[in-house]
Amino acid sequence: MLSNQQISPQSNQVASFKFTQTQSSENIHTLSQQIIYLLSNDHQILPSSKLILQTLYRELPIILHSAFTNEDRKALLEVHKSLYTIYEINFSNPLSPVCLHEHSPWLLTIRRQIENVWLNYEIPRIQKQLPSESEAKQPKLLRDWFMEQARIESDIDKCVLKFLKDQASVEQFNTFILSDATLNYRFCDTLALALLHFSETVKAEIVQNIWDESGHGIAKESHASQFTRMLASLGLEQPTSPIWENWQPYAGHNFYFCFGLNRKHYFKAIGNLAMPEIFDPSRNSSIIAGLERLYSDARVRFEYFYNHIEADEKHGLSWLDNVITPIVELQPEAGMELAIGGAVRMEAMRRYNQYLALRFGICK
Ligand SMILES: [Fe+2]
Repeated sequence: MLSNQQISPQSNQVASFKFTQTQSSENIHTLSQQIIYLLSNDHQILPSSKLILQTLYRELPIILHSAFTNEDRKALLEVHKSLYTIYEINFSNPLSPVCLHEHSPWLLTIRRQIENVWLNYEIPRIQKQLPSESEAKQPKLLRDWFMEQARIESDIDKCVLKFLKDQASVEQFNTFILSDATLNYRFCDTLALALLHFSETVKAEIVQNIWDESGHGIAKESHASQFTRMLASLGLEQPTSPIWENWQPYAGHNFYFCFGLNRKHYFKAIGNLAMPEIFDPSRNSSIIAGLERLYSDARVRFEYFYNHIEADEKHGLSWLDNVITPIVELQPEAGMELAIGGAVRMEAMRRYNQYLALRFGICK
């Protein structure tokens, strides 16, 4: 059986999350450490799997309470790191031991408990932003709602974009780009998860997105390859783990996979994917203005961002016309699910900006 580390990524491959393959049960204290230990091999081979699993089952409700009732930041970070690790199994080396556990009851039990408590915490927080029940069932009104929501910017959103445009240094931009890397290397996969059948119209639009993401079938032109070239030109390496130190970016990332890997959340996944296609072009304009301030060869070096401005403008409108509208025409009760997915993404984007503001010490 191969471990993840035994297969090093080729230059044109995306670095995978490194599951630390430990079979020693010493120094395993946190939820994410317990999960990684339990994933590290067949449980019959692992000496302490029974004990660690019992401890985990006993402690899980306690940490979930700290995270989602007391809003303890350390607990929130630990829970989201654990969920991130669980979702990464779906993208791990197929020959690694972690895949033995992909559908194991112990793992599904933990994942479901975390997801249920987490969503019960999140959904009430976006209630005020949602359209009314009747608006959500009308394609034109729901389309307008998506456009309106995508345009709303908080003071911190404006402050972060202005900072990137006018003030951020080369080092701060490097941090920003590395922070964005984790999702950018998974974005095509989030689209692929939404491709599973609902209708031919929806499928056709998502395929267009995937076609763009994959460089129109030319591997070196894929968005992931463009991102890797950008990192290399900045002297940066692909991170194998997120560089985040706060729960907010983890939560934003995890939403894509909580929705994408649970069929019952399919429509939320669609709304969640549609929203960035609408708000990203204006975000990318500020980023490009900042990069042009710092680099005379920005257009060559940062093709990734330039290409996204044009592509996302086109995709945003297409998602509204070819995905959101036809789904609600066919199944009006899906409208509220689409809206929940969209509102959650707006909340995730705002939290991401709060995290950036904290990291750069701005917008106080
Ligand atoms: Fe992309």
